[in-house]
Amino acid sequence: AEDGYKLWLRYDRIQNKKTLSLYQDQLKQYTFMGSSATINAAKTELRNGLSSLLGKKIPETDAIKNNSIVVAPLSRLGANADKELRAQLRQLGKEGFIIKNITGGGKNYTLITANSDIGLLYGTFRFLQILASETSIARLSVSDFPRLQNRLLNHWDNPDGSIERGYAGRSIFEWNTLPGKISRRYIDYARANASVGINGTVLNNVNANPNILTPEYLVKVKALADAFRPYGIKVYVSVNFAAPIRIGKLATADPADPAVKQWWKKKADEIYQLIPDFGGFCVKANSEGQPGPQDYGRSHTDGANMLAEALAPHRGIVMWRAFVYKNREQDRIRESYDEFHPTNGKFASNVFLQVKNGPIDFQPREPFHPLFGAMDKTPLMLEVQLTQEYLGFSTHLVYLGPLFEECLQSDTYAKGQGTTVAKVIEGKVSPQKMTGIAGVANIGDARNWTAHPFAQANWYAFGRMSWNPELKASGVIREWNILTFGNNKVLLDGLQQITMQSREAAVNYMGPLGLTMLMDISHYRPAPWRRDKPAPTGTRESFHRADEKGIGFDRTAAGSDAVSQYAGALKERFNDIHTCPEKFLLWFHHADWDYKTSSGKTLWNELCYRYSAGVYTVRAMQNKWETLKTLVDPERFTLVKNLLTEQEKEAVIWRDACLLYFQTFSKRPIPAELEAPA
Ligand code: GCU
Repeated sequence: AEDGYKLWLRYDRIQNKKTLSLYQDQLKQYTFMGSSATINAAKTELRNGLSSLLGKKIPETDAIKNNSIVVAPLSRLGANADKELRAQLRQLGKEGFIIKNITGGGKNYTLITANSDIGLLYGTFRFLQILASETSIARLSVSDFPRLQNRLLNHWDNPDGSIERGYAGRSIFEWNTLPGKISRRYIDYARANASVGINGTVLNNVNANPNILTPEYLVKVKALADAFRPYGIKVYVSVNFAAPIRIGKLATADPADPAVKQWWKKKADEIYQLIPDFGGFCVKANSEGQPGPQDYGRSHTDGANMLAEALAPHRGIVMWRAFVYKNREQDRIRESYDEFHPTNGKFASNVFLQVKNGPIDFQPREPFHPLFGAMDKTPLMLEVQLTQEYLGFSTHLVYLGPLFEECLQSDTYAKGQGTTVAKVIEGKVSPQKMTGIAGVANIGDARNWTAHPFAQANWYAFGRMSWNPELKASGVIREWNILTFGNNKVLLDGLQQITMQSREAAVNYMGPLGLTMLMDISHYRPAPWRRDKPAPTGTRESFHRADEKGIGFDRTAAGSDAVSQYAGALKERFNDIHTCPEKFLLWFHHADWDYKTSSGKTLWNELCYRYSAGVYTVRAMQNKWETLKTLVDPERFTLVKNLLTEQEKEAVIWRDACLLYFQTFSKRPIPAELEAPA
């Protein structure tokens, strides 16, 4: 059955007969040099993958034979590694790998080599992906390495099994049966992560239950760490800043109090006693009601640096989150920058500041968070969200690769042109000792892990683009499409179209032209009226600021001046309504209803047009999917078809609710041609 459990590691039989026979000729046996848990994992993967792809069992041999696969670390290659190969490997670091056809000693073989066992595992996964995509392996020469050191999933999973903003079932972490039971799912989770290069996981919600740090839970954390270790995955936990009070029986959690410092030091020692390679702490402090150092008149840096000091002897890290807002008098999008910009250079060397991609909160489209252009002395960890909190949960098909790419390739102008967010987090704009990225997981105990079959692609894309933030979303989804649906050309073209237009469709029906935060309290459906009472009566003034004159939030120098958080050239561009990219028009400007947009339409008509385009694109996705019916198994075909039907209904609701509401301000008709059938 096509239950999707295997994700992109299906290893379906090679369809093309010619390719299959070429593979069979070249891959007659395999040999591994060295032994470790990681090598065993690679061996199992290669054995299972080969027999499934090639449709027959491939024997393991002890020595290098003709037409074989050789998996060996550089240290074991001896004379089989020439100068060139050694030089090449030196460039690839601990986790990089080389896959290469070698002719030597009268034998032809495919070599997978690396500086470490984990590099071999990554190379093995890549090799299997190459085979699964049925590309030629006659002249292989692949070398690759990760551009970021820390590539983490963040689970917002709670110890009771619920998941904050989780839409794919309950948590996969079965705390009740740990440490005794290591479920098969943990291993498959680790395999999936390793196959795309994810090398760390924060096991619990940033709104952290303090109990995760009790001895009872730490042995469970250890069991997971042991299960994931062979796959190169370190475990981390989110900690509650008030843990010294909540579980430590101290009267305070003040970071300046010696007893508090001592408590964290001992806690860190206790953890590393159990888990010598434990990764560190993720912290949400003084944000949305969570405790933090400010409760005691201390700063974010005081709090982070105290934890950093406790972890430093063990080489652990702190990921201190920059997601804060509380000043109701202010433009919310300014707050994170305003609060953290002054901390530049003040964090201890093992502290990351973890910053969401945009300044609000994982909206369908936001400009990049201005901290990315402003923290040259602080390592920044980019946080993106895979779970579709604001993008239709697990009902809407929205491929997030383009969202990641848009953020990563945004130019911060921090040090002149070309200093993109990707280069900032890679430490290429200002050198950083640590680099990293985090993705809020979209995984649950649904049989297919993510509930929507296409949501698997967001997990995959996050991994691939963490490994290399310069990758193109279109190339990444092509890989996933092949690995998930096979190699049929018509099918692949169709899937490419559907996936690549899906994010823009969602932006259009949920928040076109820079509109944002229009959803109801569940974050699923539209409620643009929700925040339209001016402060202090309402919780906050609306984000869209629609009135009789126009719509949009004035963040120019004449308004909230959020534009000034961006570097000079960019600030000017955003500040001027005529140079501001249209996708951010209403993010930065309050524009008149009759303002002429680049299409020549008035703003009101353009808004109507975009909302309606969002709906039409979903219908185009439905139609395209329908044409693929005979090329996809019935199970997945029907599931996706039904989900698209729901998505279309929701898109219509978004369009109608928003336009009818905004029309009460614009008092202009909805253009008739929009009513044309799809
Ligand atoms: C969003 C989300 C919360 C989450 C928060 C965070 O506001 O709705 O559930 O806790 O982000 O990132 O801390």
